Amino acid sequence: MMASAWKKSDWRSKERIQMPDYTDINALNAVEARLARYPLLIFAGEAQSLKAKLAQVSEGKAFLLQGGDCAESFDEFSADNLRDTYKVMLQMAVVLTYGAKVPVVKIGRVAGQFAKPRSANMETIDGVSLPSYRGDIINQIDFTPEARIPNPERMLRAYTQAAASMNLLRAFSMGGFADIHRVHEWNLGFANANGANKKYSNLANRISDSLDFMSAAGVTSETAHELRTVDFYTSHEALLLEYEEALCRVDSSTGLSVAGSGHLIWIGDRTRQPDGAHVEFCRGVQNPIGLKCGPSMTTDDLKLLMAKLNPENEAGRLTLIARYGAGNVGDHLPRLIKAVEEEGAKVVWTCDPMHGNTVKSPSGFKTRPFNSILQEVREFFAVHKAEGTIPGGVHFEMTGQDVTECTGGVRAVTDEDLSARYHTACDPRLNASQSLELAFLVAEELEQRVLEKRKAV
Ligand code: PEP
Ligand code: CO
Repeated sequence: MMASAWKKSDWRSKERIQMPDYTDINALNAVEARLARYPLLIFAGEAQSLKAKLAQVSEGKAFLLQGGDCAESFDEFSADNLRDTYKVMLQMAVVLTYGAKVPVVKIGRVAGQFAKPRSANMETIDGVSLPSYRGDIINQIDFTPEARIPNPERMLRAYTQAAASMNLLRAFSMGGFADIHRVHEWNLGFANANGANKKYSNLANRISDSLDFMSAAGVTSETAHELRTVDFYTSHEALLLEYEEALCRVDSSTGLSVAGSGHLIWIGDRTRQPDGAHVEFCRGVQNPIGLKCGPSMTTDDLKLLMAKLNPENEAGRLTLIARYGAGNVGDHLPRLIKAVEEEGAKVVWTCDPMHGNTVKSPSGFKTRPFNSILQEVREFFAVHKAEGTIPGGVHFEMTGQDVTECTGGVRAVTDEDLSARYHTACDPRLNASQSLELAFLVAEELEQRVLEKRKAV
């Protein structure tokens, strides 16, 4: 009913930006035809259940953790990398659950996060200019003219990697790997490590007490399956619309279209034009939709986008991902919150403290200081507190590997360290220790809020 006149190919008549112009149209058509026969990576029912959970987030009855690579890469793909990022997200979720005293909804930037919008169309090195790298699903990162030609065949490889990733994530989530007691053991390892801040071991010990209390009361992994399984969802930016369209199908049980490429898809800050191709595609699928809200978003834009993307004001449908940079949240977020409140719109507000905090380090690397990331999260919480609205979650670019891409944290990555293990295919990610540390610090904020609420009643 939501979009009865909508067709999955309608975006083709709208302005398309940040997408490649494939030169070999026959090859492109063949890839699209093949993908259109492949199995979907998710079921419509799962997208619906995620939407129901996000509805809980919008009411403050759950908290959202979204995280993963800036860009997934073909070369860096391995079972170990996938496991380690998943593992850190589970660790973060346990800490956040304890702080927030509500369930944490876990969404990976994974199994489809391959296409990247770029600020510049060309990249110049030593006087040589070539088309920019746009993610492994489009072209190759190597700095040669051949590598940078968009190749539609890469969509098939991305699909295969996404399918294999999804398979492993589903196995991890159901097969015992995610048992809360194991995850907590890992957290104790981090919190008790030399050099970690005392307050981390404090919080970890309080979680131990809670788990011991529950066991004594008969609630164990054997008696309560919630303690040994998790729901884990996937997400990516719906940028490459040929790929999205080919994996979009009508769900026979509801008659509604579903984007089968991932549970939640989002619209980037560069491609959110209300009349553009990306909004046109996303408005017609039933999945939960994310919308990046950067400094240039006006209140009128936001109102128009909410009307287009969520005309029935369905809770859980729309997640607004605020990304302004430390020091800038107070300049933008209050007016957008007011616009949402004026419309009576039901949304999830979440904070991406990564994309407004990218700087060039003196050594020439793109980096993000840990303290700026933390500061932006704190500003996000403070603005919501002042407005009386709900800070629903956090969104991080992160990995389970011990990379050196963002500076700072208890293990103090310095500018000189950046070259040691700088592996990202795009933006700098938090490493395992930095990610976990942020979770502990955000949990502290959340706990504070819970205490204040208790006092108020
Ligand atoms: C991203 O999330 O990787 C991204 C490109 O974000 P934004 O659209 O907010 O710049
Ligand atoms: Co990024």
